[in-house]
Amino acid sequence: MTKSAPQHRAWWKESSVYQIWPASFKDSNDDGIGDIPGIISKLDYIKNLGIDIVWLCPSYKSPQVDMGYDIADYYTIAEEYGTVADVEKLIQGCHDRGMKFLMDLVVNHTSDQHEWFQQSRSSRDNEFRNWYIWKPARYDEEGNRRPPNNWVSHFQGSAWEWDELTQEYYLHLYATEQPDLNWEHAPVRKAVHEIMRFWLDKGANGFRMDVINFISKDQRFPDGPIKDARTPWQWGDKYYANGPRLHEYLRGLGEILAEYDTFSVGEMPFVKDTEEVLRAVRYDRKEINMIFNFEHVDIDHGVYDKFEPGSWKLTDLKAFFENWQKVMYENDGWNALYWENHDQPRSVDRYTRAGEEDRVVASKMLATVLGLKAGSPFVYQGQEIGMGNVPRGWGMEEYKDIDCLNHWKRLLEHRPNDREAQKIAREEYQKKSRDNGRTPVQWSAAPNGGFTGPNVKPWMSVNPDYARGVNAEAQVNDPNSTYHYWAAVLALRKRYLDIFVYGSYELVDRDSQAIFAYTRQYEDQKALVLANWTGGTLEWDPSSNGVKGVKDVLLNTYDSTRDVQDRFASAQWSLRPYEAVVLLIEA
Ligand code: NOJ
Repeated sequence: MTKSAPQHRAWWKESSVYQIWPASFKDSNDDGIGDIPGIISKLDYIKNLGIDIVWLCPSYKSPQVDMGYDIADYYTIAEEYGTVADVEKLIQGCHDRGMKFLMDLVVNHTSDQHEWFQQSRSSRDNEFRNWYIWKPARYDEEGNRRPPNNWVSHFQGSAWEWDELTQEYYLHLYATEQPDLNWEHAPVRKAVHEIMRFWLDKGANGFRMDVINFISKDQRFPDGPIKDARTPWQWGDKYYANGPRLHEYLRGLGEILAEYDTFSVGEMPFVKDTEEVLRAVRYDRKEINMIFNFEHVDIDHGVYDKFEPGSWKLTDLKAFFENWQKVMYENDGWNALYWENHDQPRSVDRYTRAGEEDRVVASKMLATVLGLKAGSPFVYQGQEIGMGNVPRGWGMEEYKDIDCLNHWKRLLEHRPNDREAQKIAREEYQKKSRDNGRTPVQWSAAPNGGFTGPNVKPWMSVNPDYARGVNAEAQVNDPNSTYHYWAAVLALRKRYLDIFVYGSYELVDRDSQAIFAYTRQYEDQKALVLANWTGGTLEWDPSSNGVKGVKDVLLNTYDSTRDVQDRFASAQWSLRPYEAVVLLIEA
């Protein structure tokens, strides 16, 4: 057993978060795009799930090249979503229901339409020139102009764009239209602090911080190591992920956050070094509360490219989680727990092989395994009703995401006649494209899943399975639905707060490729979370896995807990396909 470490108690540790991606949440004015009044109309639905905090993805004014992660004005709301006054109503609506509210802070980059960049690109001596990262060209032996280094953009190709007018390159780690801000320049940091205060003063209770570990870059801007010899563009993360001044900058943000008693979660791709993460999230560091790490969602990527086929084992997934669970528990840090968000495919399709007949139980199993670990659980819109990936038969015209479309474009350019490569890419898009998480939320069995009016063409097609029970209305009315199951998980976590929020974590049956099991313990209270990760029936031996005795059955992905008691009375426990059970056991 892990020795008991003192765990600081905090409201944000006890909270669960619901993530809203506005374009696809709920359309209130029949223009085919979700909006803030639509969100307000669903606050009771979110509250009834047992959620404590609502996180709204970027809703600011934006040309929507990267669906709002390209911000043109941090003080204005995109017209299609509503107004600042609507956001104020939304905040109030959350507060009235005892929920908190988070904004998305995207400050590694802006849109190229932002006034700062418009100024910056207008001449080399403009007062905003230094707000972005401008560098002169390099020239090769033949005198050809080359970017300042070999970094690849997250959305394909070089991360540098040549500017004809001022004859320099600017850095964009994402789309060409998303220039990176220069955090070395103090006025940039000051401007970010002002944006934070603006929204905190409006009642926001904190921020989700987009790629916050990219804000400090190695000022030498060295070439990234060559890992994929097929392309000139290589990952430069070694020089911009968790760069030299990151913690200084995070402390600057942390000082403001502390004034307002907030919640903060930082997105941190690439980082695997636990010490480095602890420097950001340890309780006494006063930087941010928790981070999103990526190991478990990068699990099915190819060696060089997310859209190449990849394979993974359950033991890998368990090992990633175990590592972070232990590190945080033993070092007074905290975890953000997630399977899904707007950048990820749907979990039931990614992590299980469930078919039509066992999708519901598989999505409940995933809810159990995630929601009862140590950390703050994040539920992404539609996850609570077990929404799935886009249908296999959808053509490329249904895909909208810049990441996927750029990949497709380059493939067609570079290998126009390679039908096999194109077929494989199409299969991988259906499994991994961000579009999978971006189809409209399915509210009812009405046309368009009730997301928008019956005669409206939504900005993105609705997954047709809304007509087959994957919709919120049907699930709210069905006590055995995924929606009610998620509510039960979140309620259980609160009911046994000491165990599930503040208890230790021990992985059980480590080497099994079929079982995901762990215990949580607080003093002499102990629970076992036991999940069958397969679509077959399994026998499981409790005593060889250290289970001394069962005190109570708390939750089960099949309807009745009584039948669990009967089945678990014998020496071998039989588990049905994708069954998960939560038991109070002898310590
Ligand atoms: C991470 C966000 O989650 C993603 O949607 C976005 O494209 C990039 N950061 C760039 O802002």
